Amino acid sequence: MNCPRDWPEPIIRVQSLSDSGITAIPDRFVKPASARPSLGSIGSTDTNSIPIIDLGGLNRRDNLETTTLSKVYEACSEWGFFQVVNHGVNPELMDRAREVWREFFHQPMEVKQAYGNSPKTYEGYGSRLGVEKGAVLDWSDYYFLHYLPCSLRDYNKWPALPEPLREVIDEYSKQVVRLGGVLLKALSINLCLKENFLQNAFGGDDIGACLRVNFYPKCPQPDLTFGLSPHSDPGGMTFLLPDQNVPGLQVRKNDGWITVKPAPHAFIVNIGDQIQVLSNAIYKSIEHRVIVNSNHERLSLAYFYNPKSDLLIQPAKELVTPDRPALYSAMTFDEYRLYIRTKGPRGKSQLGESSNLQDDK
Ligand code: OGA
Ligand code: NI
Repeated sequence: MNCPRDWPEPIIRVQSLSDSGITAIPDRFVKPASARPSLGSIGSTDTNSIPIIDLGGLNRRDNLETTTLSKVYEACSEWGFFQVVNHGVNPELMDRAREVWREFFHQPMEVKQAYGNSPKTYEGYGSRLGVEKGAVLDWSDYYFLHYLPCSLRDYNKWPALPEPLREVIDEYSKQVVRLGGVLLKALSINLCLKENFLQNAFGGDDIGACLRVNFYPKCPQPDLTFGLSPHSDPGGMTFLLPDQNVPGLQVRKNDGWITVKPAPHAFIVNIGDQIQVLSNAIYKSIEHRVIVNSNHERLSLAYFYNPKSDLLIQPAKELVTPDRPALYSAMTFDEYRLYIRTKGPRGKSQLGESSNLQDDK
């Protein structure tokens, strides 16, 4: 099964809309009254924050430090979201990666348009997620590219300009993928499984790794829309490099939403649906969303570390017991991902969990 070849409606670049100086957003971006961000009021528990973990203890080879491991366990099972520092990815490279993408989005529209994407693979420059005609859209543009498996890596589908982008993103990808491998080991050990369990379940060296660069232009009416509607990430694990200056990511905690305050040179890591399934829900894939604002654009790099797309993903048999039966049936990531690629972001409905907050229906 595949997504259609084309978008159901002509694509509007959100950045062009924003640059045009409009003071009211078009109807197709206005969320129903019950699904708006309620900025600054109900639901935002800003006093709370997601855990920050120093990964130094994991990078020291052969010494997976137990205190670090237990912090990672708690973060994955209770929060599904955490920040990591001392993670082994070069901080200057992180800054460079953000800079080259900011430059990319600030080029003339013709340059970007040459990479315009289709729903068939989503690779390239895009402005919507989902193919339903008449859907209410999110206030963002993005760029999506593949790094792994190697067979899907096509540098011609990565922007040629700005000139250093391909080289910077190649090195950045290599380092983030290495970090993904380190964390996957920690997550396996914490489930009392062999350290390579999750990596093997993901396909060993044949994992998927892809980058989605999100560009959230200034929005004249940020209280009526989202930069990215509530969703959980369908894949394995996500490494988000957030904007250094502009907050926007909100994470579901109980009945509220926590606005994440990024620590310097940290990655925001979150568990995706495939790891929730493999861990039989010991690890949680948590809903999150992005708010926009009228004074600042925002840029983020979301690196998705995913299972090989045609492997069956199901709860690890070691984690299925009479007391805790398998909560999910087996499915390939290809089949799984089609849902969000067709319908767009829809909370956590795909894992059979409903979003019980009024502002999230
Ligand atoms: C995503 C995502 C958050 C952000 O791309 O899946 O949740 O802060 N991004 O841009
Ligand atoms: Ni996400």
